Amino acid sequence: MSFPDYGYRITGAVGGLVQAAEARRVAGAGARRVLVTGATGRFGQITDLLLARGHAVRAATRSPDSPAAARLAALGAEVVRADFEDRSSLAAAAEGVDAVFASGTAHRAGPAGEERHGRNLADALAASGAPHLVFVSGAGADRSTGLALFDAKRSVEQRIAGLRLPATVIAPVYLMENLVNPWNLAALRAGILPTPLPPAVRLQQVATSDVLALAVLAIERPDIVKGEGEAGGERIEVASDAPTGAEAASTLTRLLGREFTARQLPRADLPPGLTALFAWLEHDPSPVDIGALRERFPDITWHRFGHWASDHQALLAKASGTVPGADVIGVSRNSA
Ligand SMILES: NC(=O)c1ccc[n+]([C@@H]2O[C@H](COP(=O)([O-])OP(=O)(O)OC[C@H]3O[C@@H](n4cnc5c(N)ncnc54)[C@H](OP(=O)(O)O)[C@@H]3O)[C@@H](O)[C@H]2O)c1
Repeated sequence: MSFPDYGYRITGAVGGLVQAAEARRVAGAGARRVLVTGATGRFGQITDLLLARGHAVRAATRSPDSPAAARLAALGAEVVRADFEDRSSLAAAAEGVDAVFASGTAHRAGPAGEERHGRNLADALAASGAPHLVFVSGAGADRSTGLALFDAKRSVEQRIAGLRLPATVIAPVYLMENLVNPWNLAALRAGILPTPLPPAVRLQQVATSDVLALAVLAIERPDIVKGEGEAGGERIEVASDAPTGAEAASTLTRLLGREFTARQLPRADLPPGLTALFAWLEHDPSPVDIGALRERFPDITWHRFGHWASDHQALLAKASGTVPGADVIGVSRNSA
């Protein structure tokens, strides 16, 4: 399944971590050399954040001549060619860096591809000095779920642990950005807030920007987010809010000035992988202690759904085909 580009750029400050006054704070002695794999992908915007904070970034892509690579080079990244299928290209890209950021490739390569790619990366890093790896996996991937997607992530996590790589594994719950994934667009255009679960059930979610803020913190402060020093590392599951579908629909109604009603996606219309994932979500919709996470990492904003939606108003208007100029009402940062 391919994902459309809705200008899927992170908007607003990423937690307290990239406030303008603070940008470049860490330049100098604290600056790190970071390899960002998948730099053109979903989590690749960590490149922008790291550069803004004064770090040196090597951005890896299979297509260094692409427009996406040119954008990264223009920002100041060193663009290198690397392919998750090719361990030697990954080892070469990781040469001399302090830290490596990576996530999976499931949407492009399927669970088997994601597993192979992640294990290739772990093997390559073990052979190239074992820099601190910050790896984005998935909440639930450390337990038995029977889901191919999670089994793949689990296998990669096990490889990282088995090689005793210094690593921070960040495991997000359902991303808020999933709302604009292809299978949701027809419903959004029809004024429906599509939910994987019944509209009255709370589903933990997290903003991509919060995942990246924690990844930046792990890269900058491995003394706080463990991953360096001793072999092995830490695994942190992350969520930033748990709205019901009905609450999320009200938020969209207020934000876009048009009525949205929450409705559960009919399972029969979904691909089998999503059906299985959503059935599992129903079984375990709230695995994270959000309060404890906020307390432990107070410098990260941890977006409420309303705050995230407000930051992505233009994206949501476009995805839902909402007419520009509709009567728009602001959404409080504390609302659902
Ligand atoms: N928690 C959630 O709700 C949630 C939601 C969606 C996704 N996710 C997870 O987020 C992760 C990333 O999302 P995604 O799958 O859509 O990946 P993606 O964002 O498309 O990124 C994958 C990147 O890997 C690079 N790459 C290098 N070698 C590759 C190869 N041989 N095959 C494919 N890509 C290669 C690609 O860049 P080049 O083409 O430039 O080389 C691409 O930018 C996945 O693990 C997915 O499960 C989680």
